[in-house]
Amino acid sequence: MRVVRDAASLKAAVAAWHAAGERVALVPTMGYLHEGHLALVARGRELAQRVVATIFVNPTQFAPHEDLGRYPRDEAGDIAKLEAAGCDLLFAPSVEVMYPPGFATRISMGGPAEGLEGTHRPQMFGGVALVCSRLFGLSGADVAVFGEKDWQQVMVVRRVAADLALPIEIVTVPTVRAADGLALSSRNAYLDAEARAKAVAMYQALSHVAERLKAGATAAEACGEAEARLGEAGFRQVDYVALRSEDGFEEMSGLAKPGRVLGAAWLGQVRLIDNLPV
Ligand code: PAF
Repeated sequence: MRVVRDAASLKAAVAAWHAAGERVALVPTMGYLHEGHLALVARGRELAQRVVATIFVNPTQFAPHEDLGRYPRDEAGDIAKLEAAGCDLLFAPSVEVMYPPGFATRISMGGPAEGLEGTHRPQMFGGVALVCSRLFGLSGADVAVFGEKDWQQVMVVRRVAADLALPIEIVTVPTVRAADGLALSSRNAYLDAEARAKAVAMYQALSHVAERLKAGATAAEACGEAEARLGEAGFRQVDYVALRSEDGFEEMSGLAKPGRVLGAAWLGQVRLIDNLPV
């Protein structure tokens, strides 16, 4: 696997593959890779002859008080995992390569960026839309693969790609979970043993919502019960448990059509998010 850090080398590699008639899949990440990321690489290999992974801890999606400075990093370990997964190229740029001097574009997202994560992390989706658009443009990839663990992010990326007519297909991969159901996340590295044991309550609470909705409960009833369960399990603050439609990401009062139940809550200083299709 080649590791490149500048835009010209990335473009040249993808152009050579395209000239040979090969399709290219992009897997954007912030590194500290786990099985969930490797499932994205595996899906990329099914969709294209070549897979480009990116590792960039994107400062524009972090608010000043958030964990940019302490976000877990292990580039050597990530390279070994990507090589073993059959990735062809890693693009691991510096901040100066991604946002060179004079870079002045910002993206303000409405639609699926509103509410839930958009309320609790107002910085995030403009930054995600910006970095993904730039990665799509720099790479010229044909298809980009994202994990469903960040479902609202997927909705935002699909929206920005459609709105800006970016010539790339967006494909998603279901969330990879630990044996007890906890969604894999790089931020799980922040959990100590006690918090890790409690963390599974998020998956259990969302599963409870899914079951109650299928049995005819309203979203208010089912999500309220889940919030109470999270509190009882030791989460100190629940940011939201909510039901949104799967197609348009609209609020739903009950299970009128396929949806996603989404949750975010704090275990000590660690914020966990997860979602389930329902
Ligand atoms: O999900 C992530 O890891 C990041 O938000 C992404 C999509 C790589 C953009 O920085």
